[in-house]
Amino acid sequence: MDKEAVEKPTINRAKFATSLGVLAATLGSAVGLGNIWKFPYLAGSNGGAAFLLVYIVCMLLIGIPVMVTELTLGRVARSNAIATMQKLAPKGQPWWLIGAAGVLSAFLIMAFYSEVAAWVFAYIIKAIQGGILSTDPEVTKSAFNGLVTDPTQSLIWQWIDLAIVGFIILLGVNKGIEGATKKLMPILLILLIVVGIRSITLPGAGEGLAFLFQPDFGKLTAASFLIAMGLAFFKLSVGMGTMITYGSYFRDDQDIPGTAFRVAFSDLAVSLLAGIAIFPAVFAFGYEPNAGPSLLFLTIPSVFASMPLGNVFMVIFFILTFIASIGAQISLVEVPVAFLEEKFHLSRKVASISTVVAIAVFGALAALSNSLLADVKLLGMTFFDLFDYTTSNILLPLGGLFIAIFISWVWGKKKITAALTNDGKLANTWIVNVLYGTLLVVTPILVTIVLLNGLKIIQ
Ligand code: PFF
Repeated sequence: MDKEAVEKPTINRAKFATSLGVLAATLGSAVGLGNIWKFPYLAGSNGGAAFLLVYIVCMLLIGIPVMVTELTLGRVARSNAIATMQKLAPKGQPWWLIGAAGVLSAFLIMAFYSEVAAWVFAYIIKAIQGGILSTDPEVTKSAFNGLVTDPTQSLIWQWIDLAIVGFIILLGVNKGIEGATKKLMPILLILLIVVGIRSITLPGAGEGLAFLFQPDFGKLTAASFLIAMGLAFFKLSVGMGTMITYGSYFRDDQDIPGTAFRVAFSDLAVSLLAGIAIFPAVFAFGYEPNAGPSLLFLTIPSVFASMPLGNVFMVIFFILTFIASIGAQISLVEVPVAFLEEKFHLSRKVASISTVVAIAVFGALAALSNSLLADVKLLGMTFFDLFDYTTSNILLPLGGLFIAIFISWVWGKKKITAALTNDGKLANTWIVNVLYGTLLVVTPILVTIVLLNGLKIIQ
């Protein structure tokens, strides 16, 4: 290991200023479109509470240990994802590839994620104008199709979203990331509770709660396990260096395991709250709980159109969804920005602008997946679906697998214990021991089995 680099962290490197700021930024990264667009539907269609159980197991045995690992490595090295692995790995071993794969994943995820955020942003404006509030499926369908099949609109809304994200990133770690998430997270929570209360107080809401919470083990398949694991990686923003990058801004006295537990469970609470805000209303008005984009952009407008003061609640709903996407997007963009700043000594401004422009160029592949590139398919998927599938189900789990192996088998218990107890200042030795054992054996075996099984390499 390059000892000097570890012991003498880069001076003048930004750090999150307060504990609350750390929590807001890290939770801001975890909470995102995943809570609203992925989690509730996946839980509902894979056996409700049965899937929830599998997800919690994935979170405890995979997601949290990998998050702790990433935050720790980042804080010790005080570097971007690639340099962190370079600094901490034994000389000549290519562990930096994990960081490089992370930068690639950031681009792949941002390509489709920024497009969904762009639709959400467009829907805030459309909802205010009132054009999409209708119970007629023809109206909601043509509004959504009109948006996604129009290449100009798809690109321009994506650029607007990227400009907002780029602006926050450009303001830096404290003013930008910490400042924005500290303001946005409480607003998000309040808005979600408002919509949640509206939803469960509707007559006939019980069926929606049953969809989400009634355990149906019969609906669990081998694929459900891969989905739950992929979701745990995607939800907790781990497996690709985001948490390495954020960990590099953590203060030395921050309790890393405590933070990771708090973030994971708060994120789960937000997902459940999102499910409570969506499904009771969906069932109360007799709609089908369909997947992904159509749930957000077709069903939800109809649901709101069916309720009193629906237009107000719909505007609130899309604003909260957009707010959720912001914290996640800035954490994704920060991965390449931190790398460019440190590797090529670029100013924050140049690094932020060039990253956002590169994402805009690359993101066009996803943005145009419903229009000009609708017929271009790889492995039977459009670019949009391909980026989504390969990141959640392959790249992030692989990244997490190698990160777990690196910290437990290569870096070793002594260093882990020193880093996680803050050099003995925290009385959390048993937690550290449990985490170490999990990372050494359980996480690698579990990720390998689920990956091989989910990808049908073993049956
Ligand atoms: N956790 C975010 C969500 O659930 O929407 C998505 C995400 C953000 C994934 C950051 C990966 C990442 F590095």
